[in-house]
Amino acid sequence: MINITDYEAAAHSGKVGAIVLVPAVTSRVKIPCTVAGGFADGKGLAAALAMGAEGVTMGTRLAATKDAEVADTLREVWLKATEEDTIVDPAIDGIDCRVLKNEAVKKLLKKRTLPFLDAITAGLYMKKELNLSWGEMIRQANSLRTQAISLDGTRRGLSSTIRFAVGGRLFGKATVEGDIKEGILMMGQAAGLIHDIPTVAELLERTIAEAEGIIKKMQTKIGS
Ligand SMILES: Cc1cc2nc3c(=O)[nH]c(=O)nc-3n(C[C@H](O)[C@H](O)[C@H](O)COP(=O)(O)O)c2cc1C
Repeated sequence: MINITDYEAAAHSGKVGAIVLVPAVTSRVKIPCTVAGGFADGKGLAAALAMGAEGVTMGTRLAATKDAEVADTLREVWLKATEEDTIVDPAIDGIDCRVLKNEAVKKLLKKRTLPFLDAITAGLYMKKELNLSWGEMIRQANSLRTQAISLDGTRRGLSSTIRFAVGGRLFGKATVEGDIKEGILMMGQAAGLIHDIPTVAELLERTIAEAEGIIKKMQTKIGS
């Protein structure tokens, strides 16, 4: 199974929108594909199936449910956000990453210089959270430094490691601690399609029912 990640997706999004990317991939591979990025309802599911995918994966929409173990501050953000409230930039954690356009990310992007001091704080935080010894921490940082963190191999080295550490700390602040003032929240354009906070069961049931209704209706639209 391949999960195709498109441009609309939260976090490490692709460079191409779903309407082109999904048929481009599904027509070239022989294994089943799902698609991630921008899917929040039955319209998206029906469209994904029409484009050759076997299903969708939801990130932002599933996070904005009663069952997700997240702070209510995040649910409020998802309810209020529009599809234009995200920003994509490689300076956040080293690779193109789509997040909520809040003050914290604007501040980070305004600096543009490498956040060396923040990297020390982030490194110490990671050491504590992952319960690493100093030796283990240095080994982890060194191993990150030598890895390419983007698929094209262009993002690597000390600067990428620093951005990765600082971004990771800021993501934790938002996602784990619910701090959307200081933290950076991974969020997809699908936020613009979120108008309520259902349970996961309600979300899945209505998504499937809506997709089934649309698929039936499409048969009368074509050729009538
Ligand atoms: C709150 C949140 C946290 C996420 N955390 C990560 C992460 O740590 N690493 C990652 O690769 N993707 C992460 N993602 C991205 C999802 O795995 C998924 O690819 C993406 O949400 C799909 O796009 P969508 O949000 O439009 O459905 C996160 C998404 C959300 C909404």
